[in-house]
Amino acid sequence: MRYDKVWINADIAVFDKDKKIIILKDSFLAIKDKKIKYIGDMSDFDEGKAAQIIDTKGKLITTSLIDCHTHLIYAGERNDEIEQIREGATYAQIAKDGGGINSTIKSTREESFESIYKKSAKRLEALMRDGVGVVEIKTGYGLEIKTEIKMLEIAKKLELNYPVKIIKTFLGAHAIPNEYKNDADSYVSYICDYMLDAVNELGLIDCVDAYCEHLAFSVSQVKRVFEKAKSLGLHVRIHAEQFSLMGATKLAAKFHALSSDHLEHIDEASIKEMAKVDMVAVLLPGAYYFLKETKLPPIELFRKYGVKMAIATDLNPGTSPLASLLLMLNMSNVIFGLSVDEAFLAVTKNAAFALDLQNSKGSLKVGFDADFCVWDVSHPRDLVCSYLPNALDYRVYNADVY
Ligand code: NIG
Ligand code: FE
Repeated sequence: MRYDKVWINADIAVFDKDKKIIILKDSFLAIKDKKIKYIGDMSDFDEGKAAQIIDTKGKLITTSLIDCHTHLIYAGERNDEIEQIREGATYAQIAKDGGGINSTIKSTREESFESIYKKSAKRLEALMRDGVGVVEIKTGYGLEIKTEIKMLEIAKKLELNYPVKIIKTFLGAHAIPNEYKNDADSYVSYICDYMLDAVNELGLIDCVDAYCEHLAFSVSQVKRVFEKAKSLGLHVRIHAEQFSLMGATKLAAKFHALSSDHLEHIDEASIKEMAKVDMVAVLLPGAYYFLKETKLPPIELFRKYGVKMAIATDLNPGTSPLASLLLMLNMSNVIFGLSVDEAFLAVTKNAAFALDLQNSKGSLKVGFDADFCVWDVSHPRDLVCSYLPNALDYRVYNADVY
């Protein structure tokens, strides 16, 4: 058998069975049919077995990074609100006054497909420059069938035009749109009776998310959305316990959700439920930093119960306008106290778990997709402990170099 391409003279970072990073020095990585076929020591490399050889000259190879929670498709910045937050207003108060998510909904409904596509593409390009090869993107700035579909079609076009995998999540239960003000239950009925069927029939979604919080939806309302999602055979996940302990994670565990995200206010009992069904804790240091949160997510308890932790950008205009997963990697270390091993696992293997991609993405393993990064640093620690926006030399996606 001949390999299609082989990257030689590389230092290859993988995880051992204790989830510690190990560097395979002077190694090669061989691919065939867009999959990883072999990882071995240079002393075993046979030139005759390679159709094409690429010399990394000692560079570091890791699997591509995965941003498993973003809202990167939107129109209209909200920096005026952010100015207000800096002057003492709260995110919740701004939302109550009709701003917040609802102001992005207004712009996203009004602005054209092409214009939003262009802006979203720039955000996606920024993530890709950080070595990201998989991005999850949520809807939730339409909250009506037409605009939710517009967002999903934008996601589809992005995936068509860029070398990146996009997981599309329907977040119809993101906020109560102004036309349903004071009648959240009717809006939930609209989601369950019309909107979810409409987007699902088009084959545009992989997953369903909901925002459970006093300023958004209650546990019982989210339950209705999840029941509908499950009846359609879709995975669910949740924005939970961000500003208060609502019990949303416990509910999500009953539905075997892929992940629960934010979690600054989660309690031990909910974490135990997460552990039972292997739900991933997706931590969002960008939103924590941006909103000047003071309550840290309980990292020690996630460790105690063996709950997988992932890290994502939460890229959105109101609470995390930060288009860099490398920056999150550093924040997870400095602010949340994740170790280098935990932080790197959080943007690779554990992020793949949060998207149900753990059998093809997020690890350098034989049989996995040929998606990886070649870096100008010598160890993943350099990506975690510093913030180097141009650390990436190039990325390989589906066996091609970008
Ligand atoms: O994850 N919490 C809800 N959704 C976003 C914020 C979206 C927005 O403010 O536009 C989040 O923080
Ligand atoms: Fe979010």
